[in-house]
Amino acid sequence: MSYIDTEKLPRHIAIIMDGNGRWAKKNALRRIAGHKKGADAVRRTVRTCRELGIPYLTLFAFSVENWLRPKDEVSALTSLLEDYLRSELREMNENNIRLTAIGDLSALPERIRNLLEETMEKTSGNDGMVLCLSLSYGSRDEIVHAARRLAEDASGGKIRGEDITRDTFARYLYTADIPDPDLLIRTSGEYRLSNFLLWQMAYTELYFTDVLWPDFSKDDLLAAIADYQKRERRFGMTSEQIHGEGDV
Ligand code: IPE
Ligand code: IPE
Ligand code: MG
Repeated sequence: MSYIDTEKLPRHIAIIMDGNGRWAKKNALRRIAGHKKGADAVRRTVRTCRELGIPYLTLFAFSVENWLRPKDEVSALTSLLEDYLRSELREMNENNIRLTAIGDLSALPERIRNLLEETMEKTSGNDGMVLCLSLSYGSRDEIVHAARRLAEDASGGKIRGEDITRDTFARYLYTADIPDPDLLIRTSGEYRLSNFLLWQMAYTELYFTDVLWPDFSKDDLLAAIADYQKRERRFGMTSEQIHGEGDV
């Protein structure tokens, strides 16, 4: 098991939960069975992050591009989301977890959207951890949506062009109330971002593992955090500046 320094935990972990289909194939099962197993990995990961005291966890659950998948897979994924929301409300409240969501939520079936809103409302007083589900999420769409709202506010006289800064722009993104991720984990051996949090991950530490999402264990999460803790985040500066050693 990996050693973790509890004083140096990432404040925000984002995860691209990938590999459910390949897990199913490997086990001679239908893709949907992989997604079901993936939901168990979600429960496990949420529990571990909460136990560790991670303040923010964002999970890429469904991308805007995933709507292009076969109809039966899309409907299986939406009903799994429904099951998840129904079964986890109690645990979220017991563990002081607040649920939020990012993405084009208007694209979700109305029943799911209502349930999602109800769950967010019922957990809104919790302050132990924020669990953010990315649903019908696409980063480029998010940025365009932000630009559009900003343009509307500018033409309505609410904001002047010269007052638009990085911070004001970020306030127009779905993630306005969430800090940028410190650590991104992607499972299943794929080395790409797949249109996830492009703006927000400018300085995120990236961690890739071959483990398929349904197999992602507590130890795998601890290994990712331990790896993150070995990194030096320089944000464009020099190592000496970060360590306060002055010029060398
Ligand atoms: C991730 O697993 C889950 C979603 C994208 C919804 P995949 O379904 O992408 O699994 P692979 O990549 O086909 O193995
Ligand atoms: C990214 O996985 C989306 C989610 C994990 C929800 P995909 O499986 O959709 O990504 P690509 O298509 O391999 O890039
Ligand atoms: Mg995939």
